[in-house]
Amino acid sequence: TTVTLIGAPTDVGASVLGASMGPDALRIAGIARALRALGLEVRDAGNLPGPGNPQALAQDGLRHLQEVVQWNRAVFGATAAALGQGRLPLLMGGDHCLAIGSISAVAAHCRARGRRLKVLWFDAHADANTPGTSPSGNLHGMPVACLMGHGPRTLTALAGQPALAPGQITQIGVRSVDAVEKRFVAEHGIAVHDMRSIDEHGMRAVMQQALADVDADTHLHVSFDMDAMDPSVAPGVGTDVRGGLTYRETQLCMEMLADCGQLASADLVELNPALDVRNQTAELAVDLLESLFGKSTLVRAR
Ligand code: ARG
Ligand code: MN
Ligand code: MN
Ligand code: MN
Repeated sequence: TTVTLIGAPTDVGASVLGASMGPDALRIAGIARALRALGLEVRDAGNLPGPGNPQALAQDGLRHLQEVVQWNRAVFGATAAALGQGRLPLLMGGDHCLAIGSISAVAAHCRARGRRLKVLWFDAHADANTPGTSPSGNLHGMPVACLMGHGPRTLTALAGQPALAPGQITQIGVRSVDAVEKRFVAEHGIAVHDMRSIDEHGMRAVMQQALADVDADTHLHVSFDMDAMDPSVAPGVGTDVRGGLTYRETQLCMEMLADCGQLASADLVELNPALDVRNQTAELAVDLLESLFGKSTLVRAR
C-alpha cells in the first residue's frame, strides 16, 4: 500500500475552534514515521489551503457554508488525485465536515470503476442533521445527511449526485443523537451500532456484522471521529460525550479492519489539540492508525 497524508486544517464546520491544528499534532505524534515503520510508502502532501474561521452566526440553519464549501472542494480534489494515482488517501482533520469532500471523491472513484463502496463511520454522533433539524447549524453535524443528498446543493452535488445510499454506511460508537436527527437515521434505515449495542453484543460481534457485506471487490472507507472514543482516553476533542469506546475495543476494531484487507481510504477527524493533554489524543490516533494499517503483536496466520 502507498499512502498519501492530506492535511485539512479546517474548524469552520465545528462548534469550537482548534481542530485546525489537528494535522500538525498528528505529524508531531509521528504519523508518517509510524506508518513507514510498517513498511508502507508514505507521502505527506502537506496541508490544503482554505479559509480561516469567521466565527459567524448561522444563516438559514447553516454556519460558515461558503467556507465549508471551499474546504470541501479542496478535499475533494486532493482525495480524487491520490485515488487516481492508485494511492490510499488518509485525510488528517480538521473537523468532520471534510468527510463530505473525501467521501464524495471516493464515491465518484468507485462509480467510475464499478467498485462497491462501504463506509464505516466511528463517532459519538450520527452527524445526520440537515439545515432544518440542526440545533447548532454546525456543518460537522451534517456530513452523513449531505452525503445522502440532504443539505445545501453546493455540498450534496460535489460528486454530481448523492455519494451514498443508506445501506452503504454503518455507524459505530454512537451515543448522542439530536431529537429530530433521530428521525433521519430511522427513516433512512442507517445501520447504527450505538454504545448499547456494543455493550450488549461486544465489539467483535458488532464488527463482524459491520464487515459482513465487505467482499474482495469492496472499497472500504473508514471515517474516524476521535470523539467516538471515551473522553478519558481521548480528551482532545471539541464535542466530547461520556461513555465512549475504550482503548481495547477500538484497537480490536482497527485490527479487524486490517485483517479484512479492503481499506482503501480514511479520515481521521475532530482531533482538537487546543483541548488535548500533552498531545495524548494525537498519540492515541497514531496508535490506532498503526493497527488499522496492519501492526500486530504477533505474526498472524492469514
Ligand atoms: N449533533 C450536534 C450538532 O449537530 C453535534 C455534532 C458533532 N459532530 C462532530 N462531528 N463532532 O451540532
Ligand atoms: Mn462526533
Ligand atoms: Mn433521503
Ligand atoms: Mn463526527
